[in-house]
Amino acid sequence: MTYDLVAPCYFGTESSASFDFKRIGAENVTVTDGRISFRGDESVIAAANLATRCTERILILLKRFPARTFDELFDGVNAIHWEELMPKDAEFPVKGSSLSSTLSSVPACQSIVKKAIVERMKVGHHTNFLPESGQLYKLRFSIRKDMAEVFLDTSGDGLHKRGYRANATEAPIKETLAATIVDLARVRTDSLVQDPFCGSGTMIIEAAQKAMRIAPGLQRRFLAEHYSFMEPGQWRQAREKALSEIQRDVAFEGRGFDIDPRAVELANRNAKLAGVGNKCKFFVADVADFMPDSRSIMLTNPPYGERLGDLEMAAKLEKTLGERLRINPVSGSYIITSDAEFEQNFGKKAAKRRKLYNGMIPCQVYMYY
Ligand SMILES: C[S@@+](CC[C@H](N)C(=O)[O-])C[C@H]1O[C@@H](n2cnc3c(N)ncnc32)[C@H](O)[C@@H]1O
Repeated sequence: MTYDLVAPCYFGTESSASFDFKRIGAENVTVTDGRISFRGDESVIAAANLATRCTERILILLKRFPARTFDELFDGVNAIHWEELMPKDAEFPVKGSSLSSTLSSVPACQSIVKKAIVERMKVGHHTNFLPESGQLYKLRFSIRKDMAEVFLDTSGDGLHKRGYRANATEAPIKETLAATIVDLARVRTDSLVQDPFCGSGTMIIEAAQKAMRIAPGLQRRFLAEHYSFMEPGQWRQAREKALSEIQRDVAFEGRGFDIDPRAVELANRNAKLAGVGNKCKFFVADVADFMPDSRSIMLTNPPYGERLGDLEMAAKLEKTLGERLRINPVSGSYIITSDAEFEQNFGKKAAKRRKLYNGMIPCQVYMYY
């Protein structure tokens, strides 16, 4: 069966993030603000969860319909063939959001959506009792400008949870965001990538996994593996294919540095867990001693004033980084920070900037070529 699928992604990175979907054989791949829409069967759902790097989850779009009243919302949701998607003991929590719409109360919409599903399930499964004691099915709805969309989440935990970073340093960057920056920097199989503020190593590890074609989801499970309408064989095949595509002998090299020895220890451990330990090395070093190779691409996420230390310390580190790069120029630098003064402190205007969110923090990626 073919499904309409949606993958939310970072605003402004839709086109580059969409390449992964074309690569896995998704059809009708289109991008709009903050999302990639595509079509595909169960094998595409499995591959999208396993192998795409920059999106947070893969959703099946079950229905799209106008919803200006609670009745319209109820009827639209109730018309979905829920009994074919979920067994009668399924547990099905509903989450949602509403923006610029007449139905603005999310809790009220949530209970209408839930009620509409319950009523449909009771009729469809010929029962008066839904124990919700079985397999978890996560449902989402979104109402935008009076248009409702109802989704079934196939990922479960966000796709940034790769499985290699059980522990992180104080202010880790999300793996999906790091992968997005890796894309912006056009990391290749033979790139040398360096990060002078590596923390738990996320930037370097994501770059290495991309260079080695290691599917980011290989070490984790996905909610839809247990969905009754998906065959377990699809997931096994997708995993086997992903494993067969790994290129262990690429020339890629990653080097990370951090002043905190615990961060360096963690980064080395995470790299091993991520299957890139032989391509990535992490060292204890102060940015004041950073001597990057001239061939390298620098990807980094320096301390932000908000969360680590104070703004003055962050400004000083940015200045030091700028000085080190003037002495040791690199082939490209990609720096993500929330510090609006970054370019002044760093001492150079970026060739290009891109707005992105690190969690809830608005940031910019400053790009120098
Ligand atoms: C925002 S965190 C980087 C997080 C990292 N991207 C990750 O995913 O875990 C900034 C890092 O800079 C490190 N740091 C702070 N001062 C430093 C200095 N003078 N030289 C090198 N690293 C420093 C901190 O120890 C911290 O790990």
